[in-house]
Amino acid sequence: MDIESARHAFVTGGASGIGRGIAEALADAGVRVTIADIDRPGAETVAATRPGDFTGLGLDVRDRQAWRDAKARSEERFGPVDILVNNAGIGFNGRDFADLDPEVFDRIVDIDLTGVFNGISTFAADLRDRGRGHIVNTASVMALTAGAPGRGAYSAAKSAVVAMSEALRQEMAPHGVGVSVLCPGLVRSNLDGNTTRLGGQVEDVAHIKGDGSLGMDPAEAGARVVHGIARDLPYILTHPHYLSHVDARMDVLRRSFAEAAEFA
Ligand SMILES: NC(=O)c1ccc[n+]([C@@H]2O[C@H](COP(=O)([O-])OP(=O)(O)OC[C@H]3O[C@@H](n4cnc5c(N)ncnc54)[C@H](O)[C@@H]3O)[C@@H](O)[C@H]2O)c1
Repeated sequence: MDIESARHAFVTGGASGIGRGIAEALADAGVRVTIADIDRPGAETVAATRPGDFTGLGLDVRDRQAWRDAKARSEERFGPVDILVNNAGIGFNGRDFADLDPEVFDRIVDIDLTGVFNGISTFAADLRDRGRGHIVNTASVMALTAGAPGRGAYSAAKSAVVAMSEALRQEMAPHGVGVSVLCPGLVRSNLDGNTTRLGGQVEDVAHIKGDGSLGMDPAEAGARVVHGIARDLPYILTHPHYLSHVDARMDVLRRSFAEAAEFA
């Protein structure tokens, strides 16, 4: 969509990391932003840094009534939402499926997948009725590459976010609403700290992704998202070198199709 015509964006998980980077980039482009986060003090602290551009509120993306209340409150302040960014999420915990506490699986799916659906369910019909706007859902590059040990529940939820975004994009396109799925590689954030703070477990992942200080500046990720909205990109990617990992998965799939063709 034409960013210059956008007035109000609603960004979940905007108190930290990538969500904050997206909120800052949207505000820099002239869009007023509601920062919604389960960390209400964090959302309000970020909002206080740009009082004319930001408003902050508490929202647990698992709570459907809270979504309806947050929509009403934010639109009372800044008018109808043009851009929805379903970004809030928690990380993986490093355990193999055989050892994964089922409650951890449920928590990851509830936040990383159903939380995204809840945002779509709250805003998509209004966007469609107004015939303009854009939805960004945050998945992960892990949704595009082959699954890996210790990250399976997270990859499963994020893969479903990609699938949901692809279907939603087709549903909304005839109504003038764009849909993109953000698939970041490693971006500096507080993902592991926030995951444990919110009651999740993070084990044995430092060897996979460091201590949170590595990776892309979230400001760059935010700028890439604004570019992706303006260009209505189906997939917003941050780390081009992951193409080789996607190719490796595609090669296995191609070989499997060839095997299927030779059967019988
Ligand atoms: N950082 C990376 O390398 C990376 C890579 C790929 C995908 N992602 C995804 O990017 C998104 C943002 O993560 P981040 O890395 O910026 O981490 P982060 O922890 O810095 O930010 C996530 C924010 O989401 C909020 N949040 C968590 N659960 C919530 C809930 N139930 N309701 C509302 N808010 C909630 C947290 O309080 C936090 O402010 C996540 O969906 C994550 O899976 C991150």
